Order: sequence, then structure tokens, then C-alpha cells
Amino acid sequence: MAPQVLLVGGGMIAHDQILPSLYQLQRSRRIGQIAVCSSRYETVRALAENERICRAFPGQSFHLYPEAPAEQPQPDLFRACIAALPPRQIVFVALPDQMHCDAIREALGHDQHVISVKPLVLRHAEALEIAREARARNLFVGAEYHKRFDDRSLMARRAYREGRFGEFRLGRACLLEKWYYRNSNFQNWMTAEHSDAFTYIGCHYVDLVHFVTGLLPVAVSVYGILDRYPNGRQGYLWTDARVIWNNGACLDVQNALGFPDAAPGTNTQGLTLYCQGGGNGALLDHSDQYRGLKYCYVGGVYAEPSPDYFQYVDLGGPGLTPVGYGFRSIEQLIAAAIRVEDGSATLDQIDAAGLLATPSNSAYNEQVIEAARESILNGGREVRIAGATAK
Ligand SMILES: NC(=O)c1ccc[n+]([C@@H]2O[C@H](COP(=O)([O-])OP(=O)(O)OC[C@H]3O[C@@H](n4cnc5c(N)ncnc54)[C@H](O)[C@@H]3O)[C@@H](O)[C@H]2O)c1
Repeated sequence: MAPQVLLVGGGMIAHDQILPSLYQLQRSRRIGQIAVCSSRYETVRALAENERICRAFPGQSFHLYPEAPAEQPQPDLFRACIAALPPRQIVFVALPDQMHCDAIREALGHDQHVISVKPLVLRHAEALEIAREARARNLFVGAEYHKRFDDRSLMARRAYREGRFGEFRLGRACLLEKWYYRNSNFQNWMTAEHSDAFTYIGCHYVDLVHFVTGLLPVAVSVYGILDRYPNGRQGYLWTDARVIWNNGACLDVQNALGFPDAAPGTNTQGLTLYCQGGGNGALLDHSDQYRGLKYCYVGGVYAEPSPDYFQYVDLGGPGLTPVGYGFRSIEQLIAAAIRVEDGSATLDQIDAAGLLATPSNSAYNEQVIEAARESILNGGREVRIAGATAK
């Protein structure tokens, strides 16, 4: 029987990518009932009534938790929702970064398969513990790093692993979100004591460099600039990270909530790797923001939309169909949980294939985050990753 899915958290990423992807999988009968739990009724109600999502998925709905308005937020309601699910369904965690670990433990403790938005957790030991628990119960746990399912990443991975780029030496990546993100709910959780621009969004490119090259990080330094959100809270809203890899290569990663609102596109991002081999240099250069489209609408707004991450297209209905690597990533993760459950794939096979990020095969992400947090709180000094060795 198609599994039920409980989505925990109903914020921006739930709206932009996760719920529409789940609805599409429900439409094609690959999953069954969907429920969404947030701490406030207003959040799930707004999601349920969202005009764009309703237009794309006419006649589809999810179960709302909380079921009715309450005076106080209900931060522990997700525990009761998880406990009420029959065992071996799927819990999708889309909570603020520092809450993932607690929710994942809760779901595993109730025998649920788990998918979590990145970063899976913030500490390496937590990733290892989750890997052990999942293994003991034969449950799938996957971290949603959707850039992996951008075809350009899969092309680069294949070409790199065939030796066509030689060996990575120096690189740079950036992902700067728009300034207006500072006005969002981020000001309540992406604050200096919990997270920073690198931890929140830089992890995508660290993960991608491993995904393409197979290299592992050995040392990290992150310089962060403290800035204030509109609510007065402080955050490291500008970061510059240097990640050293086990072949001596160096990647510079710049992140911020600071790309001008008036600039085209929804952010600026990309990856450049300079490589060497066979007495030659080699180059891999991805513009991940500008995908070749220049639109200017009659309202006078200029935009450079990405057709690649997540779009709704009209394929004849009913409603609209989500396309892009944002959808494909969720489709693959859900399929993996289903395969583990029906016995057509083992956790070992999924770990070894390396296409999906699991706590076992991507724990280097937590090592980098842990080192990055220590570095940023110490003025950017280099932090070695314990146990990491050069090739
Ligand atoms: N590119 C990406 O992969 C990407 C992009 C955006 C966000 N994310 C990740 O997704 C996560 C959520 O980000 P977002 O942008 O949706 O943030 P957000 O602040 O918009 O949403 C967070 C949601 O969590 C809910 N929440 C908080 N505490 C809760 C609790 N105790 N019980 C139930 N719900 C609770 C809030 O009500 C809110 O709906 C973060 O970990 C972030 O790093 C990933």
C-alpha cells in the first residue's frame, strides 16, 4: 500500500517545493494520505489555502495539524502526530536547522522512514547515531540535497569520475539569498547562536563538491560578519568559508542574506572548479542562477527565472505539473523509502550508490558544519576535522 506522509513544518520550503512535490506523488498514487503539522494552525491553514498550490492540484488536500486555532503555539504537537501514524510510513522534516535532530529521533523511535531538508543535523555524532538507529530498524533516512538532481550535477559527477576533469585543485562557490529573506521567519531561528549563512546554505556546495569529485573535507575556516535582522536579533548574515579537501584542494564558499532585492533572479549562485590532469588545466563552471532566460513583464518587472529548480507547467491537466530537480529529488527520496520498505533495495545498496545523501554516506556534511560553527565563533580560525586524513 502507498505510504502515508507526515510533513513536519509548514514554512517557505514546504510551500515552494515539498508540499507540491508530495501532491504530485499523491496524484500519481505513489504516496497515500498527506498530513502537515506546524506549531500554529494559521501556518497550515495558509498552506492549505495557498492559491498557487490549490490551482495546481485541484481536489487534493492534506490533514491539518493543529486542527483548529489555539491561543498558544503547539511546539510538541508533531510528537503526537508521529505517534499516531501507523509504523513504517514516512515523516518529512522541514523544521528550522537546529530542530531536525529531535524530530528525526522522534520519528525513528516510532519506526518511521525519514526524509529531512538539509542540513540533516548539526553535529557529526548525531548523524552517526541516526545512522545506527535507522540501520537497526531497517528504516531509510535521507537528506534532501536537491542540487544533486540538477542534471548538470549528474553530468559533472559522471565526467569527473571518468577522469575527464583530472583532479580538483582550486574552486569557488557562492549562494547569496535576496535581502528580503531578513524579513522572513528566518529572523526567529537563523540567529548567531544557532546557525549562520554558511551552515544554512553553503552546505549545498560542500555536498555538491563531494558528490561530483568523491573527495572529503579535512579542514574548514569560516569568517562571518554579524548583522542585525529587522527584529533586532543578530545573525552571521555574511560568511566566507574555506574548505580544504583530502587531496589538498581548496574551495572558497561565499554566502549571505544580502543579494539586492532589485537584482534579477531569486538569488545568485554558482560553482567554479579549476582542475588539472595529464599536463593540462581543466575547468568546470556552472552558473546556477542565470539559466538563460530573460523575461520582462508588462508591469515593468525584469526577471531571470530558473526553469530547472521548480516550476509548474501545463501538461494538459488536471491542474499543473511540477517539474525540475526540486521535484525529482523528492521523488527519488520517497522512492528509496518505498523500496526499503518493500524489500526491493537495501540500505547498503542505497548508501553505496551515493546518489542520495544518507546519514552514513554524507556525514562529512555534519563534520564540516560542526567545524564551521567552531571556526566562526573563533574569528575564522581553521578547524581540522577530527579523524580526517589526506589522500
Ligand atoms: N535550498 C534548500 O534546500 C532549503 C531552502 C530553504 C529552507 N531549507 C531548510 O528547510 C528548513 C526550514 O526552512 P524554511 O525556509 O521552511 O523556514 P521557515 O522559517 O519558513 O519554516 C519553518 C517552519 O517550521 C515550523 N515550526 C517551527 N517550530 C515548530 C514546531 N515545534 N513544530 C512544528 N512546526 C514548527 C514553523 O511554523 C514554520 O512553518 C531549514 O532547515 C532550512 O535550512 C532548505
